[in-house]
Amino acid sequence: MSKYRQLQSIFIDRIEVNQYIGLDTSILFYNKLQESIQKPLKMILLYGKPGTGKSVLINKIYHDAKDKKNVFLISTPIQQEEEFIKKLYTFLLPESTLPEDLTYNRFIDICNALKDKKHITVLLDEAQLYSSSLMEKIRLISDTRTIKFVVSLHKTEKEDLIAKEHFQSRIWETIELKNGTIHDTNMYIQKKLIQQNYFEIANMFRKSNIKLIHKFTKGNYREINKLMFTLFEIYDYYEDNKPSKIAGSTIKNRYLEMSALKLGYINA
Ligand SMILES: Nc1ncnc2c1ncn2[C@@H]1O[C@H](COP(=O)(O)OP(=O)(O)O)[C@@H](O)[C@H]1O
Ligand SMILES: [Mg+2]
Repeated sequence: MSKYRQLQSIFIDRIEVNQYIGLDTSILFYNKLQESIQKPLKMILLYGKPGTGKSVLINKIYHDAKDKKNVFLISTPIQQEEEFIKKLYTFLLPESTLPEDLTYNRFIDICNALKDKKHITVLLDEAQLYSSSLMEKIRLISDTRTIKFVVSLHKTEKEDLIAKEHFQSRIWETIELKNGTIHDTNMYIQKKLIQQNYFEIANMFRKSNIKLIHKFTKGNYREINKLMFTLFEIYDYYEDNKPSKIAGSTIKNRYLEMSALKLGYINA
């Protein structure tokens, strides 16, 4: 694979804990969420625009807690109630003891029976995909205090409504993930490149490049990925067709603008 192809692949969206990057903002949210999980809360609402790092964050929390066996993750919503309840059961008790006719009411009884004996945290990603009736049941399960939920969802107008109706007075803590600062944008790009040993390329990104990247992406990690991917796509093209166009020791803002144009951040 050519160099610029490899560089493109670095900026494909991925949720790999071993590629987690500690940024000022992400560390802040990580600590905040860890603290909230330690508190005697029933539910924690984690929300933010797509691409602000919610999935990365809860996967990291899950990974770091793995050995303690008291934190569980449901990455893709299980929308069918029976399946969802079964899954929660297996987090609490051995699968071999799973009753055949495990209903929601039965599960609530089990949770109540385990009260003061067992406390687990379940991380629910993409929670905007749960129906409001299942969400209501999740809330009632959390009332037993046997399971604490971290509910992660995208912030859109619709979910604002969900947040209002379901959680307003019931969630004890909400954490809103925000886009990164310009400093985070810089660190994100630097660390991602250095992680893969692209020291020279990392050096090619100067202040004015970062300023422009931040302006186009507003510090949204998914958008930064897209912009960087597109930039290296352009570099890959010139490398094959007109290498003189990409000669030099800094990234050309012209190509960042071309990427932004291609992605529709700006108009011609
Ligand atoms: N702390 C981080 N370390 C490494 N990559 C990150 C980090 N935060 C965000 N990303 C990158 O940004 C992308 C979008 O983040 P993600 O967690 O999927 O956002 P959300 O779930 O809020 O939509 C991820 O695929 C990942 O490539
Ligand atoms: Mg996500």
